[in-house]
Amino acid sequence: MKFFIDTANLDEIKKAYKIGVLSGVTTNPSLVAKEGVKFEDRIEEILNAVPEVESVSAEVTPNALTAEQMIAEANELIKINGGDKNITIKLPMTLDGLEACRYLTKKGVKTNVTLIFTVNQALLAARAGATYVSPFLGRLDDISEDGVQLVAKIAELFRVQKLDSQIIAASVRHPDHVTRVALAGAHIATIPFKVIEQLSKHPLTDQGIEKFAADWKSAL
Ligand code: E4P
Repeated sequence: MKFFIDTANLDEIKKAYKIGVLSGVTTNPSLVAKEGVKFEDRIEEILNAVPEVESVSAEVTPNALTAEQMIAEANELIKINGGDKNITIKLPMTLDGLEACRYLTKKGVKTNVTLIFTVNQALLAARAGATYVSPFLGRLDDISEDGVQLVAKIAELFRVQKLDSQIIAASVRHPDHVTRVALAGAHIATIPFKVIEQLSKHPLTDQGIEKFAADWKSAL
């Protein structure tokens, strides 16, 4: 399973990229709004900050409700950074979003169908040619459903039906989500920087480092 980072914060993206485990970035209107920056400018900054990843998702704005409007916005987004091949158009899981997905896929543009909460939605998105489908597990857990189970079912469906779309486990809230979606067959988990940090930590690792340092010092 690959790691994407789920943020529009440039410092966090740069820090995660430096570690060397990042394969992509996802953003959404809420994450961009939090940064208080111009959307297109931030996407360009992100593309330049992470040249060796496979994908940077830029979502069409909430103003784009029809397929035509989504395609018009996507046509502007794909020009950013001189037509960067990593730009991935994130589209909502609606009938119009699917129509835009099919159109953009035929044009050779990478797509990410987002806000997926059922297996059937994932099947539709895959059939519309989505490069990526994004089930939101945390938001399902929030309403007492099982987000990881959804990811597992989508993975099984894509295997049985031989569908090529990659599953991005999204709305990841903690390290246990990461372990469980990896075991469930997600191709990618997109995770906030805080969770990336948490993944690297264990109290016994810290204690071990301290003990090595103390023993080393006492031997001098
Ligand atoms: C994914 O692409 C979304 O940006 C994200 O994972 C949503 O997560 P949230 O439910 O924590 O807002």
